[in-house]
Amino acid sequence: MTPPPLTEPNLLVWHRSQVSDSDRRRLLKQNPSTVWLTGLSGSGKSTLAFALEKALIERNKIAYTLDGDNVRHGLCRDLGFTASDRSENIRRIAEVAHLMNDAGLIVITSFISPYREDRELARQIIGTDRFIEVFVSTPLAICEKRDPKGLYQKARAGELKDFTGVSAPYEAPDSPDLLLNTHDLAFSECLKQLLRALEIDS
Ligand code: ADX
Repeated sequence: MTPPPLTEPNLLVWHRSQVSDSDRRRLLKQNPSTVWLTGLSGSGKSTLAFALEKALIERNKIAYTLDGDNVRHGLCRDLGFTASDRSENIRRIAEVAHLMNDAGLIVITSFISPYREDRELARQIIGTDRFIEVFVSTPLAICEKRDPKGLYQKARAGELKDFTGVSAPYEAPDSPDLLLNTHDLAFSECLKQLLRALEIDS
């Protein structure tokens, strides 16, 4: 996908807010960060993301989940699954997460985000100190067995091209902040570890 032309930088002026990060932290009583879940389709990312969101709200923390399938209904509805469309998908999500963090929210993202380079860009956009990379490492064989949307079956039958794990690559993180294999680990334990990564009592 060809990105739209950038506006001439010297025609733009950065307007500074009169509200500081610490004002927002004090008001919302929380530290904003982004929990970036990456892993194969069917690995459990969305289930974990929405459970974490609920757990945070129950603890009076303002959190919001950006989920791959949902975001592709709106903001990213013009994007497909080529490597460049996926990069643009991740770039947009990272920019949205950055804005939401700026507003003081805790953000949880649930995207396959299969390319290391794209996740690295997301880390830079969001800021290293606010970016928590979580590898949902459920093996391909298990994801394929679960096949909750029947997509692996379609991909194996050749009806779906560029499908991650089958006909498109997944580059696992080298040193994620957290690694969760939803096949080996109880769901409650995964949730506990996510809350701990956010330094919030479970
Ligand atoms: S990403 O690669 O750009 O990060 P994203 O997480 O937004 O992907 O979307 C993945 C979801 O789109 C999958 O969970 C699946 O439901 C659906 N999907 C449809 N086609 C594909 C495909 N070719 N590869 C991966 N996921 C696909």
